[in-house]
Amino acid sequence: MLSRPVLSVFPGPYVYLDPMTPSSVIDLPVYPDECDAFGHLNQASFLTLFERARWEMLIRGPGMDVFTRAGAWPAVRKAIIDYHAAAFPGDVLRFHQALTHHGRTSFTMRQTARRLKDDALLATAEFVFVCIDRDGRPMPVPAEFGAFMRAPPERGDMQRLTVNGVSLAVEVRGEGPAVLFVHGYPFDHTIWRDQIDALDGYRRIALDLRGMGRSDAPDLGYSMGIYAADIAALLDVLGIEDVVLCGLSMGGYVIFEFLRGWRHRVRGVVLMDTRAEADGAEARRARDAAAATAREGGGAAIAESMLPKLLAPGTAERAPELAERLRRMMAATPVAGIVGALAAMRDRRDSSDVLPALGEMPVLVMVGEQDVLTPPDSARRLAAGIPHARLVVVPGAGHVTPVERPAETSAALLEFLRVVG
Ligand code: MLT
Repeated sequence: MLSRPVLSVFPGPYVYLDPMTPSSVIDLPVYPDECDAFGHLNQASFLTLFERARWEMLIRGPGMDVFTRAGAWPAVRKAIIDYHAAAFPGDVLRFHQALTHHGRTSFTMRQTARRLKDDALLATAEFVFVCIDRDGRPMPVPAEFGAFMRAPPERGDMQRLTVNGVSLAVEVRGEGPAVLFVHGYPFDHTIWRDQIDALDGYRRIALDLRGMGRSDAPDLGYSMGIYAADIAALLDVLGIEDVVLCGLSMGGYVIFEFLRGWRHRVRGVVLMDTRAEADGAEARRARDAAAATAREGGGAAIAESMLPKLLAPGTAERAPELAERLRRMMAATPVAGIVGALAAMRDRRDSSDVLPALGEMPVLVMVGEQDVLTPPDSARRLAAGIPHARLVVVPGAGHVTPVERPAETSAALLEFLRVVG
């Protein structure tokens, strides 16, 4: 991993040690002498910081000499860096390290660098290493290093986990049977804030889908299948066998795709303000128009166009903080994530065939009484197509039921979870 076999340990003042921070998370500041004539962090210095972050990770883990002890030195075989935004002197960068491939003599690490103060993604890097002895012959990756990198993530509320090639922001709370929440478009995991608080006795997992919230937003790689594969990989990393899935709107589309590939891992499903049908021609054209709007005006323009359709009539006047919360969430969504989600929704399959195949699986269909995007009639059709579905229509809610009617949503979920067991 390290292009040179250094043995000195230098816990200098630049290391911001936080006992709650997982060892795979390292904070390093940018010094003026690392910056170039334009005043920002030089790209070669950035490469050095990625390397330093890996060293620091080893210091806090199995020791900087973990490779030396095994007589195997990791040589960089390939390095790819995407620079997304500039860093300046005084910025503290948060580096995340994750092992994305572990072979016999080689391994791959993915690293991201974010600015601590605003969580902006500055650079993403991938390094392929080959372990060799002093004569350059291939050597096995030291077992101690592999065990350290693959150790289960530390528990806590917010975590950043690299799965399926992206770093996802995930909230994990509580103990008990697992319930995983999938938000809609273009929101983030905080739409489930009240349900995460309320569902004591369950292990609650709420992720930011790739491209939204604080998760990475790559330029490519969006489809319902990929979102679903992210979730399957996330469950693996968290060591969760099976789960109750709860999805809002686009979150429901993701769940249908998950059911296609991983039904054996699902104990029950909650489908909120969503539908099984694919987009028709007009809706597909509207997705492309929305993508153009996002490219021109960013998340703020999308927020402007969507907000009037999200809440029940009167809510924005009665509770302006709710509208403001949703507006901020949408405005903060990266353009790449918005455009990716729009393409994923435009191209999604019709999932009507998944419904009868759910057989004995307990399903709760919920819908806001005033939802104009996925109206109660479509929720009735959805529930009617599922053998063991119960329908709950929530009075006073529009399209974002868990935000607009948090207590009623949590109560319905708790009742359903008791049935699922
Ligand atoms: C959502 O809330 O996820 C979207 O309204 C879904 C969609 O546009 O089809």
